[in-house]
Amino acid sequence: MTKYRNIKQPSGYKQQLSYFWTASIFNRYMHIRTADIQDLAAFEAIEEACFPPGEAASRDSLSKRLEIFPDHFWLLIQGGQLLGFINGMVTDNPTIIDDMFLHAGLHREAGKWQSVFGLAVAPQYRKKGYGARLIEHLILHAKSQKRAGITLTCKAPLIHYYQKFGFHDLGLSACTHRGVLWHDMSALF
Ligand SMILES: CC(C)(COP(=O)(O)OP(=O)(O)OC[C@H]1O[C@@H](n2cnc3c(N)ncnc32)[C@H](O)[C@@H]1OP(=O)(O)O)[C@@H](O)C(=O)NCCC(=O)NCCS
Repeated sequence: MTKYRNIKQPSGYKQQLSYFWTASIFNRYMHIRTADIQDLAAFEAIEEACFPPGEAASRDSLSKRLEIFPDHFWLLIQGGQLLGFINGMVTDNPTIIDDMFLHAGLHREAGKWQSVFGLAVAPQYRKKGYGARLIEHLILHAKSQKRAGITLTCKAPLIHYYQKFGFHDLGLSACTHRGVLWHDMSALF
């Protein structure tokens, strides 16, 4: 119940009963919401479960990103539990560069491109379309904010996955984040 914090808890007894009833119904359903600093621990647990040790973002860098662009973290929640997330800063760069991972302050709220720093679904919930749901949510949101498009980097095996959502492979990225060979991909609206 503590995770149910989208609605202010009322003070009267009857109102509280109704609040807890509504909360229990609400919590059973899957929904996507933006994040805040209280999500840090759950967020970090998924990051660690989904990315190899040298590749997962540190707690410090996740916390800075949450502080600077919380409205660009989308969390897939069911029953108060975090199943997966997608997040990234907004930038005027049409592709991601290494510095963006290092300096959350490069976020430009009015920028042209929504980036994707991380898409992750907890291992036990994969292959149920949850990753797709997060990408589709991000696309709708970026369109509603009149961005030029979405930019991301990924490893070669995931190129076909992102192509299903309209992303194009732009070839090898200049990004050397964590010493991996990345591909730049973008979806232009
Ligand atoms: C990528 C990821 C978010 C997909 O989440 P999901 O909820 O399972 O995604 P969906 O159910 O929408 O789609 C599943 C598809 O993912 C693709 N996929 C996932 N991981 C893959 C991989 N390592 N190699 C190739 N394809 C992969 C497949 O196309 C799969 O389709 P299939 O069911 O036909 O095999 C999830 O596998 C994950 O968290 N991986 C670890 C973190 C990561 O690599 N994130 C991407 C960073 S760019």
